[in-house]
This record gives sequence, structure tokens and C-alpha cells, in this order.
Amino acid sequence: MKGVILAGGLGTRLEPLTRITNKHLLPIYDRPMIYYPLQTLVDAGLTDIMLVTGGNHAGEFLRLLGNGGEFGLRHLNYTYQRGEGGIAEALHLTEHFADGEKIVVILGDNILERSIRPSIERFAAQSAGARLLLKEVEDPERFGVADLRDGKIVGIEEKPAQPKSSFVVTGIYMYDEQVFDIIKTLKPSGRGELEITDVNNAYIQRGQMAYDILEGWWTDAGLPETLYRATTLVREQALKRQGHTHPVSVST
Ligand code: DAU
Repeated sequence: MKGVILAGGLGTRLEPLTRITNKHLLPIYDRPMIYYPLQTLVDAGLTDIMLVTGGNHAGEFLRLLGNGGEFGLRHLNYTYQRGEGGIAEALHLTEHFADGEKIVVILGDNILERSIRPSIERFAAQSAGARLLLKEVEDPERFGVADLRDGKIVGIEEKPAQPKSSFVVTGIYMYDEQVFDIIKTLKPSGRGELEITDVNNAYIQRGQMAYDILEGWWTDAGLPETLYRATTLVREQALKRQGHTHPVSVST
């Protein structure tokens, strides 16, 4: 199984922070954002990973990550997305890299508390199709929302005004080789993007979509508010690991 990190797009919702750098290079507590999804894939046991990036600062990823040695990798693959044609367009660029194998995809702005290894193991045992990680949230209208009936996903709506549930699709997607043929059938959405939600609905229509509920906290970091939340959650986790139970004061 191979890993893919999607870190293209222009990050316009974080202007002016993203005017002179790529969104995924912005700090989340003590590390650049891209470190977290990369660590998530590495912790899940993936070693063959491709990073898709774009915009005017793509070269900075090479300077920052090199061949991934800091993460215990021997090599890291890169590719470049021109413009921001959507998550599914970015994923399409990895077809030659996937080379017929199953892939685990993570969005470059998704930060998680726990390992996704158990889900990946279930996906490895799955004969075909796709697998999603869902999470219950208070603001489902910001995400792809799952319509769940009798424990099955019957459809996903992208940012609906009236969500059918509070379970949303997180930015971790597991696909078999069919994904690239599905992407080739997509048409741009109202916002001019090839939508990952359309890919997921195609798998649902084929009766080939499984899911797990994600354990632990999860956040995206693509808005000022969620960038701040991600920093807070990561900081709390780091302090807990160091044995601090109360906020630390910084002396000057
Ligand atoms: O975070 C989970 C959500 O991510 C899902 O619930 C939604 O269904 C899914 O559409 C997506 O929603 P967003 O509107 O938050 O996606 P956004 O445009 O912010 O892009 C998220 C990441 O995807 C971004 O950090 C990098 C990557 N991306 C995005 C675009 C538009 C690309 O690599 N290329 C792109 O062209």
C-alpha cells in the first residue's frame, strides 16, 4: 500500500498568511503543518509516499523535507499541481505513482490525535473498494456530510446547508485502483473543482464503500479559527506527553 499527501491549492481562506508561503508550511505549534499528515502516514507503517503540492512555494517543501530522512524514510516522491482544480484533480496526478496498488490519501491540512493504523489494516483486508474515516462534529455544514442509514453510508453531500447527520468525512481516504478511472469521469463542481465527494459517491453507488469512526480528536487547519484550534490541540498533547498537567508560563 502507498501513501499520498495532498498539499496543493492556494490556501486563500488564510490570506494574508498564505500570500508569501504555502498554507502547509505554516506553523502548528512547534512544527510546519505538513509534518503532521506525513507523520500520520509514517506512524501507520507507510514508507512509499508521494506529496502533491502547488503554487509559488513548492520548492520550499524540498528544502524542508528533503528525502524524508527526519521521518525515517529513505525517499520521498513529489509532484506538482498547477492551479487549484480540486482535491480529486490533485489525486489524479498520483496515478503513475500508485501503479495499481491500493492508496491511503491524507489532506495536508488534516491533523489527528491517534494512529490510523487499525483502519488501514482493515482496508488491507478488504477485497476491493474504498474506506473512509468519519467523525461526529458540531459544525457538519463545513464538510462532506455522510447520510447514514442502518449503519451504511448511502450518500455524501459536500457542505450542505441542512446536513443529514453530524458525521463528516475526514480528509483520510483509502482507495483501490478504481479511483483513477472514477476521477476521469468527473466534471468540475459549482466551485470549479473536481470534488473528492463525487469520487466517494461513485464508490457508494458501486456498493463498495466501507467506513470507520475516527477515534481521538481531529481538525482541519484551513481557516484562521481551525489553524488556531490545531495549534492548541497539538500543544496540549505535547505538554501532556512532557508531564505538564497545567498550562506552562513562559518567563521572559
Ligand atoms: O477536511 C475534510 C474536508 O476536506 C472534507 O470533509 C470535504 O469533503 C473535502 O471537500 C475537504 O473540504 P475543504 O473545503 O476543507 O477542502 P480544501 O479546499 O480546504 O482543501 C483541503 C486540502 O486539500 C488542502 O489543504 C490541500 C488539498 N488540495 C485542495 C485543493 C482545492 C489540493 O491538494 N489541491 C486542490 O486543488
